[in-house]
Amino acid sequence: MTANPSVIPAQAGIQQPSGRNPRGAPSRGKMPLSFLVSIMLASTLLATSALAQQAEPKLDPASGLVIAPGFEQVRAQCTACHSGRLVAQNRADRDGWLQMIRWMQDTQNLWPLGEAEPVILDYLEANYGPLPRGRRAPLEVSF
Ligand code: HEC
Repeated sequence: MTANPSVIPAQAGIQQPSGRNPRGAPSRGKMPLSFLVSIMLASTLLATSALAQQAEPKLDPASGLVIAPGFEQVRAQCTACHSGRLVAQNRADRDGWLQMIRWMQDTQNLWPLGEAEPVILDYLEANYGPLPRGRRAPLEVSF
């Protein structure tokens, strides 16, 4: 029984250059894949921030009011006695805004708004409407 010693190293040597080493394959594919993923992530982030910028309303730095149709009328009529921020801090539906205007007219010497009133109400309704309600209605509890 004499084993040929030259056969064993030769057979073992065949496998190495063939590249079957399991550690070889993943390390070759890793670089381009992570590069691709980071490009995809970066472009997603860019697209998201572009969308966010579009959705973000522009504010007038002086009054704090959203710049949107009707802004000029609101600035002219609604920032004489108090800051526009007092307006911007509040939210109501159209009827709620009308009630606030009537209350100021009845008790705070707010003048009649005339033809500006519907424009102002349009603006307030569109930009300072009620906040969206919670994701679900409150639980109904009965005793
Ligand atoms: C003639 C003065 C005057 C003008 C003009 C005026 N307001 Fe007011 N407003 C007041 C006063 C006074 C208050 C009470 C302020 C306080 O409570 O400190 C008030 C309060 C408010 C409040 C807070 C109400 C609350 O319940 O806290 C809002 C909102 C508001 N005004 C919106 C408007 C809007 C919108 C306009 C334009 C249509 C306007 N105001 C124009 C005098 C005025």
